[in-house]
Amino acid sequence: MTKKVWGGRFSQEPDALVNMFNASISFDRHLYAYDIEGSVAHCRMLAKQGIISDEDAGAMLVALGEIKRELDHGGFSSDDDYEDIHTLVEKAMVEKVGALGEKIHTGRSRNDQVALDTRLYVRDAVQQVMVSIRDCQRTILRLAEDNLTVLMPGYTHLQRAQPVLLSHHLMAYYEMLNRDYARFEESLGRVNVMPLGSAALAGATFDLDREMVAEELGFDRISRNSMDAVSDRDFVLDFLYNASVVMMHLSRLSEELVLWSTQEFGFVVISDAFSTGSSIMPQKKNPDLPELIRGKTGRAYGHLMGLLTTMKGLPLSYNKDMQEDKEALFDSAHTVQMCLKVMGSLLGEVSFKPDTLKAATEKGYLVATDLADYLVGKGLTFREAHEIVGKMVVLAIENKRELHELSLEEMKTHSRQIEKDVYAWLEPQLTVGRRNITGGTGPEAVKREIERAKQQLKPEGE
Ligand code: ARG
Repeated sequence: MTKKVWGGRFSQEPDALVNMFNASISFDRHLYAYDIEGSVAHCRMLAKQGIISDEDAGAMLVALGEIKRELDHGGFSSDDDYEDIHTLVEKAMVEKVGALGEKIHTGRSRNDQVALDTRLYVRDAVQQVMVSIRDCQRTILRLAEDNLTVLMPGYTHLQRAQPVLLSHHLMAYYEMLNRDYARFEESLGRVNVMPLGSAALAGATFDLDREMVAEELGFDRISRNSMDAVSDRDFVLDFLYNASVVMMHLSRLSEELVLWSTQEFGFVVISDAFSTGSSIMPQKKNPDLPELIRGKTGRAYGHLMGLLTTMKGLPLSYNKDMQEDKEALFDSAHTVQMCLKVMGSLLGEVSFKPDTLKAATEKGYLVATDLADYLVGKGLTFREAHEIVGKMVVLAIENKRELHELSLEEMKTHSRQIEKDVYAWLEPQLTVGRRNITGGTGPEAVKREIERAKQQLKPEGE
């Protein structure tokens, strides 16, 4: 068994079960690149401050570089004896440069080290997710542009409500993803804080140059309280929450794709390459991809709830409970990345059915609100108009007709103000065309938003 880094005060070897239960190496080796990056910066700073000699630092840096390359190629087993990635790297250094390797831990604890590694990981993960959000937005934008003339029913309560443009519906998701992007971007300010120098909890006794380490590692600031720095996992929670909200948005879009690709709706067809079949029912073509995105949303929420609960009763400062943050974080980061990628590709593989969508706007009295607005234009109050149109809808339902299929005489029995021009007024295309107010579903308004979005997605400097 490898000697424990904390073995001095123990007279017994740890029980095998303890060793196994305590170890995090099987998952935190995921942090190896960050762990080494942090050690390199720490080592340089120790030398600059004269805490270790330049010669020692030189040998240590060479060793760290070799260890990094070996880990890149899958070297070093995830033996529980190593306990965690921090210990693995230190032991590997000792193997290479002897006792000198242990000097890397001068003025440092695994407590501030793990906080550093996790922050470096989250910083990268946030930036990667932001790129994927933008990619997904780009696909949505393209789809919105390609379908600018397509009408569809807008829903509330999943009941047909008013005609809208399909582009407008799609651009709603663009807006959601915009907020998701902003949420991640804003979180970076809290992630990008350098905790080294906090040591175990009370701060290091050595004359460390914390600012130098922060600068080397690209951090904006250094932490201001050592006890907070080793026990804060808010930045992980931010990530888990932000990932949950993206997943919630992707899940809503997925639900719509599932619903719209049913025979009942028939609004959209997902390409064969992005669908799956049934082992028993030969006719089946199933929307497994959006279902999986919808399903994976559960694990993202679960990780958020899990870590919130883990943290809620912890006294200051570091507690081993916090080791539980990593699997949640890694899994959420992987899940949200994959789902954004899959959704982006999936949206490139859908074809909408303009005729079916348009036909759906013509059944179910979607223009009733516009008819009421028409009467308001003739001088009625909206409440009076609402009441009258309600009665007309009842008549139409009874006669199994739509509002525009009522004769002018029938209409006039409800309101003498109604004239022949009402039929043109009730064309779904025209009801949409009247809504060019900013944020509305009118084609001009939607085009303006598409233009804005294009400007927003332009690479900087263009
Ligand atoms: N594996 C630990 C974690 O993930 C690293 C810190 C361990 N520190 C300690 N004092 N046991 O939190």
